[in-house]
Amino acid sequence: MLIKQAPDIRSSEITPEHVYYNRRQFIGASGAALGAAGAALLGGSGGVQAAPQEDIPNLAPSPFSTDERLNSFEEITSYNNFYEFGLDKEDPKRYAHELTVEPWSVRVEGHINRPAADYTLEDILQPHPLEERIYRLRCVEAWSMVVPWVGFPLADLVRRFEPTSRARYVRFETLYRPEEFRGQRRRNLTYPYVEGLRMDEALNPLAILVVGLYGKTLLNQNGAPLRLMVPWKYGFKSLKSIVKIEFVEEQPRNTWNVEIPHEYGFYANVNPEVNHPRWSQATERRIGSFFRQRTQMFNGYGDQVAHMYAGMDLAANY
Ligand code: MTE
Repeated sequence: MLIKQAPDIRSSEITPEHVYYNRRQFIGASGAALGAAGAALLGGSGGVQAAPQEDIPNLAPSPFSTDERLNSFEEITSYNNFYEFGLDKEDPKRYAHELTVEPWSVRVEGHINRPAADYTLEDILQPHPLEERIYRLRCVEAWSMVVPWVGFPLADLVRRFEPTSRARYVRFETLYRPEEFRGQRRRNLTYPYVEGLRMDEALNPLAILVVGLYGKTLLNQNGAPLRLMVPWKYGFKSLKSIVKIEFVEEQPRNTWNVEIPHEYGFYANVNPEVNHPRWSQATERRIGSFFRQRTQMFNGYGDQVAHMYAGMDLAANY
């Protein structure tokens, strides 16, 4: 990114994990039906609250989850990239309260057999049981975290809107609202923030739409109320606060590729062998750890995703 080294998170900010595990045991013991998993999100009055966060009970665990040590809630919600709030890692948390996320709607359009329309967040979430996915997140800046996301497969939403054969890519847009996003007022990037996936990537079971983490609805700094998470790609593909999902024929021009084309491509698959022009991608700093660790090809998700890139020159398609 534009890269400015942020200070390490102080250990005093880290919340002990046992609090989370105790709560998870409680939730697990409640044994309620999975179909009702979205109930807390949909709420009696309807709509996700920006603050306070709501609990999301009865989450199905996922075989795709890693058992690596989780980063703490404090780390995940205090050290963020969300340029709409500013360039510093602390800015998203500092200014998160300036964003209103209720009401929220998502425009779905393009080459689909279902009606193009503005869908309320409730309409978007309603049919999808939520699950917990504990994923590694690898930022292109060479830091990483392990995050217990709450969400549902993007593939389920894609199939629901019945894309036609002309839909070869899915294009996503983050909210453009300069009154609330100070970064947009300062034009620190070209907005709205845009990202895209090839159709087979969007249908891959690992790609999820996220509504929460640590069993609670998302805070604004993490992309409330709805964001993408594509764990085998650098974090910048996983755009936040989504307001538009479009099914398109042409490969979308994604924000960082438009901004600095020779540094950031469309694919952005995690690859320790293809260095960023300004730094190595061979290792990463796990937030909260002192030692650097080796970066894994496709962020460790090769078994599930490598087939999609068979025969492709991964250095040219960075
Ligand atoms: N989405 C938007 N709209 N704006 C951003 O600046 N930053 C990306 C991604 N999604 C970004 C975004 C980057 S670079 C990363 S690493 C992840 O969000 C960070 O997600 P996190 O802050 O929840 O850890």
